[in-house]
Amino acid sequence: EKGGYEHFMLKEIHEQPRVIRDTLKGRISHQGDKVILDEINLTPQQIKGIKKIIVTACGTAYHAGLVGKYIIEQLVRIPVEVDIASEFRYRDPIVDKDTLVVVVSQSGETADTLAALREARRRGARVVAITNVIASSVAREADDIIYTWAGPEISVASTKAYTTQLVALYLLALYLAQERNTLAAGNITEILNELKAIYTKAQEVLDNEQPIKEFAEKYHQAEDTFFIGRGLDYAVALEGSLKLKEISYIHAEAYAAGELKHGTLALIVENIPVIALATQKSLFEKMVSNIKEVKARDASVIALAMEGHTEVEKVADQVIYIPKTHQVLAPILTVIPLQLLAYYMSVCRGCDVDKPRNLAKSVTVE
Ligand code: M6R
Repeated sequence: EKGGYEHFMLKEIHEQPRVIRDTLKGRISHQGDKVILDEINLTPQQIKGIKKIIVTACGTAYHAGLVGKYIIEQLVRIPVEVDIASEFRYRDPIVDKDTLVVVVSQSGETADTLAALREARRRGARVVAITNVIASSVAREADDIIYTWAGPEISVASTKAYTTQLVALYLLALYLAQERNTLAAGNITEILNELKAIYTKAQEVLDNEQPIKEFAEKYHQAEDTFFIGRGLDYAVALEGSLKLKEISYIHAEAYAAGELKHGTLALIVENIPVIALATQKSLFEKMVSNIKEVKARDASVIALAMEGHTEVEKVADQVIYIPKTHQVLAPILTVIPLQLLAYYMSVCRGCDVDKPRNLAKSVTVE
């Protein structure tokens, strides 16, 4: 049942190219110029009337939502809030019929997420669900459903659910951009064509796991680690750090790289592993400076950058390159080495990878 892999998590990490492709299937026009989301039943008028979007979810699904915020705001220019479902449901949120609420849940059964969905609908919002389980509670109660086609996810640590949630969020963002005319047709086509090719690039990332494995072997005894990034890379850093904590029990902190100076830098000491994400072209120079800052305190830096950005080699101890793609799509690729890092750290430490202590796959009680 593990398909020859030692753990479900590794199997599921390796399934990502296929499930990314499955989630895209039938949702991009043949010419690659249009998003087809027949499952969204909003009228053109309703789409034009959206004033605010709130994404709400828990854990990894919440981290997918953070990526969603950056891309929807950038491509559609609608303000987006992302809220943890257990916060949203109790904070008397400002939601009305002009708010689109997007609920993200792999299982579709997370108690807080379901309660957030109900709260949003009670206040008159339209709710779109992104979920992996057909006829789950979230699917049954939402107005519209975008299914992720990740297949069953067994490992407690979510991997393929996250990347397919990202795919669903990209499709939703591009669909809204198309319907509200916020992007030139050429730009939509360009991103869609990159999106169509992303699964082959995900496979390339998987084929390059050796350096990650070696880094894990070298640093698995670390007590503390840091993940730093800016923009979309910051959102992915949060997911990388959660994955590491969850299955290897190593303390990990994700920080917006620009915030280092405001406190965190005090914790950077000799040999502390810092995973620096520098895939965003527009923020690359800033990240190079942040890497220099932590190197000046003798941290051990492994950087993730897009192919061609070799300048980072001068400042980091080690660099992992991800294949070139449109910078908004980078998270789908960047997260994969971070999943592998958490996996190999966990294996090196002898942890129960698929069933980490104290955690359940689906949190159906508060
Ligand atoms: O089924 P859901 O997507 O609603 O689950 C949400 C979280 O419980 C889940 O993503 C959790 O954070 C994972 N174990 C993280 O790997």
